[in-house]
Amino acid sequence: MRRYRIASIPADGIGQEVIPAGLQVLHALAERSGDFVLDVEDLPWGSDYYRAHGRMMPEDGLDTLKRFDAIFFGAVGDPELPDDITLWGLRLRICQGFDQYANIRPTRVLPGLTSPLREVAPGDIDWVIVRENSEGEYAGHGGRAHRGHPEEIATETAIFTRAGVTRIMRTAFEIAARRPRRLLTVVTKSNAQKHGMVLWDEIAAEVAREFPTVTWEKELVDAMAARMVRHPRSIDTVVATNLHADILSDLAGAVAGSLGVAPTANLDPSRRHPSMFEPIHGSAFDITGMGIANPVATFWTAAMMLEHLGEDAAARRLITAVEQVCADGVLTRDLGGNATTAEVTAAVIAATRGAN
Ligand code: IPM
Ligand code: MG
Repeated sequence: MRRYRIASIPADGIGQEVIPAGLQVLHALAERSGDFVLDVEDLPWGSDYYRAHGRMMPEDGLDTLKRFDAIFFGAVGDPELPDDITLWGLRLRICQGFDQYANIRPTRVLPGLTSPLREVAPGDIDWVIVRENSEGEYAGHGGRAHRGHPEEIATETAIFTRAGVTRIMRTAFEIAARRPRRLLTVVTKSNAQKHGMVLWDEIAAEVAREFPTVTWEKELVDAMAARMVRHPRSIDTVVATNLHADILSDLAGAVAGSLGVAPTANLDPSRRHPSMFEPIHGSAFDITGMGIANPVATFWTAAMMLEHLGEDAAARRLITAVEQVCADGVLTRDLGGNATTAEVTAAVIAATRGAN
């Protein structure tokens, strides 16, 4: 029997609803497969923990997390607390502390969903955005001076290191090489930003030599945004900086029909640390506690976690079940349906039992 230790951190808002739903589905899959189990430990960290303890997670939180094979994360963000505390105190602390430098964001139009793009049908979009997750515009490098005075200044310096760019480029080429089209688009803004972005282009060309089976091309980020809308079928795997990929992945979620279904994996591909799997949507306080949050992003994220753990068959079974449930029209309100979180979860569990 294969055993995996999973740290569950539902954290804030609808994270408290979608993570339990995801765990139910994961346990059902493990039970059906009969050859693996998940030992889940629930860690009550997040904004409520902050209100009680003055920090988002215990000081030795990373030491606790180190012992796990993967982290299943809900959402972070609270209307009463600044992002500087919530986001940096939990999610980014884990991402940076564990050097989860590759953020993987797949996008597909699931059956039953409607893209706002007139000519796009399910199956037409199948992208993977590889986001640099450890440096770039999110490096936290910069500062402020002359606070409150007319000459006040703030700097926000993007950091691009040869090591950081090389490793994300390699991850992106590896992913592209495993996909049927073997096509990678390297996104930059090297016409305007002539240092860091030019380094990206140079390193892309170097790493490309290690992957002769992958066709690669360069695209500027503004042109890429237009291409995602005008020629979505021309895209497969995309690699971009922390900020560029952040923006493009929201656009990707929108053209796929809903950000409510978009998953993500924060990976340490070297496997020195546990990787973290989360839905992209965030804490969604407007619908928290109503039982109507869309659990599909969490299920998809759970499938990515299973794949990372090496449970490919269970991952495929879960994706097939989600597609079937969406195609059957069991959809939450954000997708135009009226199913509750619990109803979608029950339907997906039933479908995993039926699927081979
Ligand atoms: C995302 C989010 C976050 C990010 C925010 C909440 C800081 O937009 O995961 O895409 O930009 O990393
Ligand atoms: Mg974002």
